[in-house]
Amino acid sequence: MSALPAFAVFCIYFVQLVSLQTPKITINVDVSKVIQDIDEDVFMGVTLDCYLMQDNWEGFDFRNGRMLNLAKGMAPSFLRIGGTACDSLTFDPNRLEKKDISKLVRPPFTTNFTMTAEDWDNFNMFVKEVGWKMIFGINAKKRGGAEWDPTNAIVLLQYTVKKGYPMYGFELGNEPDIFPKKVSPQQLGEDFVTLQNVLKSLPFEKSLIIGPDTTGVGQYVDDFLKGDGGSVINAATVHHYYFDGRHSVLSMFLDPNIMDSLKAKIESFLAVGKADIPGKPVWLGETSSAYNTGTPGISDTYVAGFLWMDKLGLSAKMGVKAVLRQDFYGGNYSLIQQNTFFPNPDYWLTVLYKRLVGSHVFNLTSTADKSVRVYAHCAKRTSVYKYGAGSVVVYAMNLHESDVNLTLPQFAGQSRDVYWLTPPNNNLTATTVNLNGAPINLMNDDLPPLTPSKLTSDVTVPPRSFGFLVFPQAGVAACK
Ligand SMILES: *[C@@H]1O[C@H](CO)[C@@H](O)[C@H](O)[C@H]1NC(C)=O
Ligand SMILES: *[C@@H]1O[C@H](CO)[C@@H](O)[C@H](O)[C@H]1NC(C)=O
Ligand SMILES: *[C@@H]1O[C@H](CO)[C@@H](O)[C@H](O)[C@H]1NC(C)=O
Ligand SMILES: *[C@@H]1O[C@H](CO)[C@@H](O)[C@H](O)[C@H]1NC(C)=O
Ligand SMILES: *[C@@H]1O[C@H](CO)[C@@H](O)[C@H](O)[C@H]1NC(C)=O
Repeated sequence: MSALPAFAVFCIYFVQLVSLQTPKITINVDVSKVIQDIDEDVFMGVTLDCYLMQDNWEGFDFRNGRMLNLAKGMAPSFLRIGGTACDSLTFDPNRLEKKDISKLVRPPFTTNFTMTAEDWDNFNMFVKEVGWKMIFGINAKKRGGAEWDPTNAIVLLQYTVKKGYPMYGFELGNEPDIFPKKVSPQQLGEDFVTLQNVLKSLPFEKSLIIGPDTTGVGQYVDDFLKGDGGSVINAATVHHYYFDGRHSVLSMFLDPNIMDSLKAKIESFLAVGKADIPGKPVWLGETSSAYNTGTPGISDTYVAGFLWMDKLGLSAKMGVKAVLRQDFYGGNYSLIQQNTFFPNPDYWLTVLYKRLVGSHVFNLTSTADKSVRVYAHCAKRTSVYKYGAGSVVVYAMNLHESDVNLTLPQFAGQSRDVYWLTPPNNNLTATTVNLNGAPINLMNDDLPPLTPSKLTSDVTVPPRSFGFLVFPQAGVAACK
């Protein structure tokens, strides 16, 4: 189907629904007060896992033009290179030989491997080319007795200085709370002090120190932050997944109770942060829908967008300062498909979020139940859409199996730009996505314009769908 008729069908769909008795949801955005601030450029970032290097890159190609365009399309962004395999990495700038590409089985993440200068150069040239900022997870399992041994980290850092690569931040250890050979949170805190001293001795004193990247909120992160760790870090991180990818089913990706389960986790993390490191930010340092590389056929399809959008909305609203999506490439939760480099549906949600959602977060009231979830910010003004001062963006999802009508009386009669994402043929596990009823297709391997449709009336949104509404004429003082 070509774009135009599809869009026409979508409009007719909208109009037809008016005649039905569609449940009406009244939303009031409290624009009188900004309740949170995020950094709109880097609040959402992405990850790449060290196992890519360990396993001969799993098809990742730094020179693939489509991949580079997709990466540029979501700039600016953090790229966090991390994961269990980073704690098996040794940097060897003198090793030139290619890795063994004949093996058929992915090695366990705990298999030691070498990062060559070429590997490291590739990462750094990539982030430079696409306009991202790099955060790298240093191997914390290199230990001389009880203490972390920084020798190899220093080799890497000296090489990095020589090459002039800017480093936005460093981590030390991935999920240390489940290291088979225990490292106490107090010891890890001391190791972070060592890292800080190493960074100071090189021109990396401005790079952020981020950690401890635990599996979740618990005693370990609390003890780490109470001790030396808390005084050294610039941002505290925990990881978050809703469930195990090997045992998850479609309905879990549509379950508002599962979405709400994140609330309690963020609350407890914020409470730990407030008590131990007042004033310092907390991040979801590695996060996705399902751990164990996602759920094949689900976490790489349209339906994954519900959990992803809700995580972004909740996190910003509650006071988390960065959300790093596992991952950009690799596994079943990847934003782009492994080997083909075509975007998965979550990629488009990510790009629209990057372009539309600004720093100031508002509270709101809604007459909806928890199956219609709504978030509001000032609209981002520095994207291709060039929204002006005072613009507001509302992003929302309808988890019901019927349409709902979203009414915002405070913006009644004003024009609104609609960016509504739906799955083709109502197939929740589609690997492509429609914007306002028309398929999003790459144009010569580059992003298409992603044009909004314009309405002045309330918006009736289809069952099980999500999207963004921008109010360019809102004239909200807090967004000026
Ligand atoms: C892997 O590397 C770590 C840290 O360098 C070392 O302690 C460990 O013995 C190595 N494991 C193997 C199997 O070589
Ligand atoms: C997706 O998950 C399946 C099952 O866990 C796994 O075999 C497969 O390798 C994963 N796909 C990717 C691209 O990682
Ligand atoms: C947001 O609004 C809800 C509902 O009125 C209220 O319960 C909550 O306390 C508000 N939150 C903030 C941060 O103002
Ligand atoms: C939905 O899309 C997926 C991915 O293309 C496909 O495998 C599946 O058969 C489709 N389901 C239906 C009901 O069309
Ligand atoms: C729902 O939205 C339409 C626009 O699509 C609007 O004109 C209409 O008044 C709304 N209907 C109901 C029942 O709220």
